[in-house]
Amino acid sequence: MKILFATSECVPFVKTGGLADVLGSLPKALKQLDPTLDVRVVLPLYEDIPQKYRDAMRFIGSKYVPLGYKNNYCGVFAFDLEGITYYFLDNEFFFKRGGLYGFFDDGERFAFFSKAVLESMQVTGFYPDVLHVNDWQTAIAPLFLDAFYRLTDGYKTMKTVLSVHNIEFQGRMDKYCIDHIFGLSGRFYSEAEYKGDTNMLKAGIEASNKVITVSPSYAEEILYPYYSYGLENILNARKFKLSGIVNGIDLEKNNPENNKNIVPPFSVNDSDLEAKKKANKDEVLKILGLETDTKKEVPLIAMITRLTHQKGIDLFIAAHHEILKQDVKIVVLGTGEWKYESALREIEATYPAKFKAVLSFQPNLSDKIYAGSDFFLMPSKFEPCGLSQMLAMRYGSVPIVRETGGLKDTVVPYVSATKEGNGFTFKTFDAYDMLDAVKRAVANYVAVDKTSKSYLDRITVRKNAMTADFSWTKSAKKYLEEYKSII
Ligand code: GLC
Repeated sequence: MKILFATSECVPFVKTGGLADVLGSLPKALKQLDPTLDVRVVLPLYEDIPQKYRDAMRFIGSKYVPLGYKNNYCGVFAFDLEGITYYFLDNEFFFKRGGLYGFFDDGERFAFFSKAVLESMQVTGFYPDVLHVNDWQTAIAPLFLDAFYRLTDGYKTMKTVLSVHNIEFQGRMDKYCIDHIFGLSGRFYSEAEYKGDTNMLKAGIEASNKVITVSPSYAEEILYPYYSYGLENILNARKFKLSGIVNGIDLEKNNPENNKNIVPPFSVNDSDLEAKKKANKDEVLKILGLETDTKKEVPLIAMITRLTHQKGIDLFIAAHHEILKQDVKIVVLGTGEWKYESALREIEATYPAKFKAVLSFQPNLSDKIYAGSDFFLMPSKFEPCGLSQMLAMRYGSVPIVRETGGLKDTVVPYVSATKEGNGFTFKTFDAYDMLDAVKRAVANYVAVDKTSKSYLDRITVRKNAMTADFSWTKSAKKYLEEYKSII
């Protein structure tokens, strides 16, 4: 079986969010599952892709890609990494800019890319059985396939899958784009139109054989207006092709036993796990400039997140006084909206000994924070899957999350009586519900008596978190089943 992933970002080449991590892992996981699969990935050749990769790419050929009334140049480059071939599509007008998104012509840029994905097959000779597109940036490719390529050899039986990583972003533009820029007419025009706009994600929902979200709970949630960002009608009408498969994480790269950033390394089987976690915590507190307590142990709560409304930063800001009134320390690492950055700076100024906001992108520090923290707070308003709660659990940082989307599917509330569960949860998007969950989590922690029930709970919930199975293998199997069901 031949599978081609089309994506606007992919680790290790370019990343703005979890989409890049998924595209960096799922193709490899499929290949490991079944080495006879031919899995390839195609992405734009952005200016931001590091020179070392550019130097190693080979030029395969070029082609002009018709889009509406224009013909646009497209160079095709290839690069092999760990058994996967990556194709990079070059057009300097569209992609030689700093950054990936946020330009006035993003609609045209990614319509071009989506069309170029199909057109470039004539250069590479790689016609997949399944074209797997991701989010709005590539969602219109299945519609272009139907509108312009279906009758040509190579494309006739090609099937399509659309993954929805975040339904908030839909590629919505003025509807003149559909005919004037994308060149679509007739029924294809209607498929790209939604509520009077161009909607590239909706085009993908219409044209793809399967629509897969990144967790089963999110697949249910987006059938309702609270979560659907206006797409509930079309999703309910196309429910027959909608499902959810939870993402995994890279267990090799994220292993507290051999990650070089983590001192000392630790494993769930260590008899002195708590002491090693404490050593990691002291180290990270020192780096952050927060005081370390030698007499009593204070839990460190971490948030590592994009600072957007999706992530529930508003709840934290609303309840921060009550949280920080307790004997806790908190670190937030992330970048994002200015209003959140400035609110966090203000909290830091008010609680300099207890709270630290690191408002920059620092991968090495993030590993240390996962390893050094006791709890990981993620009160998302919505969360299609969420990867950081899984990373946190792997590093023994117990999640405190809102029961939504992938958080609901990966974090099981801890029950002391049964010793089951791997985190603490709350239901409503409400600051006081979140506060209650934080208090429940911390209550377990503060026990000084090492033979007490709550101290045992503290250790059990941490171990449960560390042993939860977030490997890609399970999910890759499910994707493969979906592919087989359509071809
Ligand atoms: C988006 C979602 C996140 C998900 C990721 C990868 O970033 O917001 O929940 O984990 O995509 O699928």
